[in-house]
Amino acid sequence: MRVYLDNNATTPLHPAVLHALQDALADVYGNASSIHKEGQTARRRIEDARESVARLIGATAREVVFTSGGTESNNAAIFGAVPLSTRQHIVTTAVEHPSVIEPVQELGRRGQEITIVPPDRSGEVPAERVIAAIRPETRLVTMMLANNETGVIQPVGDVARVCRERGILFHCDAVQAAGKIDIDVEALGVDTLSMSAHKLHAPKGIGALYVRKGLTLEAYLLGGSQERRRRAGTENVPLAIAFGVAAEIARERPDVGAMRDHFELHLGDLAITINGATVPRLPNTSSVTFHGADAEGVVIGLDLNGVAVSTGSACSSGRVEPSRILLAMGLTADEARSTVRFSLSRFTTAEEVDRAAELVREIVPRASGRGLSAREAG
Ligand SMILES: Cc1ncc(COP(=O)(O)O)c(C=O)c1O
Repeated sequence: MRVYLDNNATTPLHPAVLHALQDALADVYGNASSIHKEGQTARRRIEDARESVARLIGATAREVVFTSGGTESNNAAIFGAVPLSTRQHIVTTAVEHPSVIEPVQELGRRGQEITIVPPDRSGEVPAERVIAAIRPETRLVTMMLANNETGVIQPVGDVARVCRERGILFHCDAVQAAGKIDIDVEALGVDTLSMSAHKLHAPKGIGALYVRKGLTLEAYLLGGSQERRRRAGTENVPLAIAFGVAAEIARERPDVGAMRDHFELHLGDLAITINGATVPRLPNTSSVTFHGADAEGVVIGLDLNGVAVSTGSACSSGRVEPSRILLAMGLTADEARSTVRFSLSRFTTAEEVDRAAELVREIVPRASGRGLSAREAG
């Protein structure tokens, strides 16, 4: 039996989504811009999907732009917002995904001033810290709704409210939050918000950007009038249909939090810290530091025994770097290298989390000290 607990990386397709996608690939082949029946069918189906995606976040369909995924949505929101103002300063947080951090840094290289606000030990970036970083010349604040490594939910609404009062654009990366917690763009008061379908049991290669009614971003793809001129290119109707089905399903959520809590309670007497446990966090995510253990060894040991999880570390050019996010929270490099992320989904069963916890209790002591190292395990 394989146990997949890496759902923050990506999720398996929901059977109903797969079914809808297969049907759409076979039957809905018209170009949504064509005036004939095939084109009209495609148009109707993509607009229905847009309604479904909008409903998931409390938006209207006209405010939803389909993109290729979370990375494109974040890039579009950040680069698209900047020419709209003559102000010279951008605020973001140290726990953002690279698809936010790197565009912001690129704007820094192009002459913008940037401020990156650190989280506290809990993983939360306190609203007051972000608000204190705002200056009269701030043009954009970008802050994620939920973190991909810790699941910590950020006080987006509190910051967005202040931005609205001061005429500053606010972008929110909700890629990890969408489908896992309730989102209401009106209540949050954001201007733009990113989503990615593959995090909620739909295929990779499609996402959406919410753009508040009345806001026009600088277009970043030219060459067509699709998506109300906000994103040129023939629409990917089958993927949009699949996203729409997944968005409908995501409005009804089983209690994954109870399963996650059960998992954390069954890690036995291992020396652990659960990151983000003192603040609101996603119900599916458990970021656990196994003090003294080598996380890579734990991940490999679990994989060999049928359980897929991940470290908070990014493996680049063969060297495992400690997670930037965990370091920003104040964990030491050793603690960051001892941290494993378990991320559940609506399909995770009690039997699976029991199996995972049992294996963790077995493998972690072996991956500690002179025990199982990544190299020996691999
Ligand atoms: C918080 C966050 N933002 C953005 C992305 C990028 O989304 P995509 O994979 O759809 O490009 C991810 C993906 O892991 C993410 O976790």
